[in-house]
Amino acid sequence: MIGRLNHVAIVVPDLKAAAAIYRDTLGARVSAPMDLPDHGVTTVFVELPNTKIELLCPLGANSPIAKFLQANPSGGMHHVCYEVADLSAARDRLVRAGARVLGDGEPRTGAHGKPVLFLHPKDFCGTLVELEQV
Ligand code: CO
Repeated sequence: MIGRLNHVAIVVPDLKAAAAIYRDTLGARVSAPMDLPDHGVTTVFVELPNTKIELLCPLGANSPIAKFLQANPSGGMHHVCYEVADLSAARDRLVRAGARVLGDGEPRTGAHGKPVLFLHPKDFCGTLVELEQV
């Protein structure tokens, strides 16, 4: 059911410093920072030949990643995103299997303008999983 790894998201306390690490130290191609007020994050995308790394920094007072950063002050891996062809079909199959979908269970528009859902980390090896319809 799941397809390609779309991205790995890493929450960071300092987006400029994190972008510099990926650009200058690791030699990757790094995008300009992009504010996503609807999601409460500022993102930088790191383009790798086979996938992307999404660097996330809290934006605004009610950022959904603020708590994560409090618990992990130097940053850390936040979620992995797998591609699916049909998000509603994937959700229905996962719910039937007993998995918990976060929020109201309805797809919302993700950081790339495509429908996404998040799955409870306790059901997936302690890892927050994002599914993106491509
Ligand atoms: Co993501």
